[in-house]
Amino acid sequence: MPDPIVHVVGARPNFVKAAPVMRALSARNVGQRLVHTGQHYDAAMSDVFFRDLDLPRPDVSLGVGSGSHARQTAAIMVALEEVFSAGRPPLVIVYGDVNSTIAAAIVCAKLGIPTAHVEAGLRSFDRSMPEEVNRVVTDSLADLLLVTSPEGLDNLAREGVGAERMHLVGNPMIDTLLRHMERFRPGPVRERLGVPERYAVATLHRPANVDRPEAAGRMVAALGEAVARMAVVLPLHPRGRASLETAGLGELAGRGLHVVEPLGYLEFLSLVRGASAVITDSGGIQEETTILGIPCLTLRPNTERPITITNGTNRLVEPEALGAALDAALSGGQAAPREGPPLWDGQAGQRIAGVIESWLAARLPAAGADRGD
Ligand code: UD1
Repeated sequence: MPDPIVHVVGARPNFVKAAPVMRALSARNVGQRLVHTGQHYDAAMSDVFFRDLDLPRPDVSLGVGSGSHARQTAAIMVALEEVFSAGRPPLVIVYGDVNSTIAAAIVCAKLGIPTAHVEAGLRSFDRSMPEEVNRVVTDSLADLLLVTSPEGLDNLAREGVGAERMHLVGNPMIDTLLRHMERFRPGPVRERLGVPERYAVATLHRPANVDRPEAAGRMVAALGEAVARMAVVLPLHPRGRASLETAGLGELAGRGLHVVEPLGYLEFLSLVRGASAVITDSGGIQEETTILGIPCLTLRPNTERPITITNGTNRLVEPEALGAALDAALSGGQAAPREGPPLWDGQAGQRIAGVIESWLAARLPAAGADRGD
């Protein structure tokens, strides 16, 4: 029996992407282990996703917690180096663009352990985003680049990546969405949170939007424009709580803003499914709303997911223009395009498992020969 491959996950969006890949590999009897770095650790940021998504309990939990970028990334690297030095996996799979992703990619590259990057090739071309740095470095190191949408292939080709390393596989986050679609029921979560029938959902956590007081002030003003039009539910990521509250978030509470704790996967998507519009700075939510057909107003100057604009329901919006954009979206001025992104069909996990299985089959006999067995 070959040694198991290893998945490294750490933050909310990683869990959503890993679930269908692990399921598809398990159906092919590929041995696998799950390492959770502990980048996200609160029950509402981690445990609830494992329950909602039927993810297996991690085989290894590193428990690194929060810190500056250097501290967090370094803590993950030190801990992972120990894990992988004790037993070298034939392949490590990393997901998305978080600090856990880049940390694992660097450690594996230095130990000579091959890596596969799920969600390779996305580029915002904005290096002030920590995620963009994580994407560029991870892609430059990974042996297998598993790409969610066609522009990712072009981005990688422009950076000199050979066609043999890239595979267009579709979007595993959408596999998870389609798998659980029947479980997204807005009624119960709306009632639990006391939200009226007509509402928008908002999420905010990007450093560029919530870390500095001026930026947080612009976000609160934008939310003020939104609540003037309809109730808004804001499941608040812990990152922005203090700065947004200082910027006056509390004053919107009596005017139709419902600030709630971070929600689990099923409750959050249930709420989104019943919403008239979504206001966000998240990456994954731009993709999920595209498939759900819900207008998405993204409070960012750029997106690494332009396909959600060309083939979806996403629009980039300046905070000062949010009120007008919401009016347009609610009056049907933001028509959904006919065709969704190619291969966002619920089969990405299967395709990824297929690529990995073939890759392992091609490599393992050679590894056996090296050992002389
Ligand atoms: C991280 C990712 C971001 C992703 C987001 C999804 C990086 C660089 N960023 O951002 O790309 O969109 O996850 O949610 O990896 N905190 C808690 N409890 C937790 C986790 C975090 O209270 O369980 C608080 C801490 O104050 C922490 C802060 O949130 O310092 C930021 O957490 P961190 O993981 O560093 O980045 P995110 O903003 O969550």
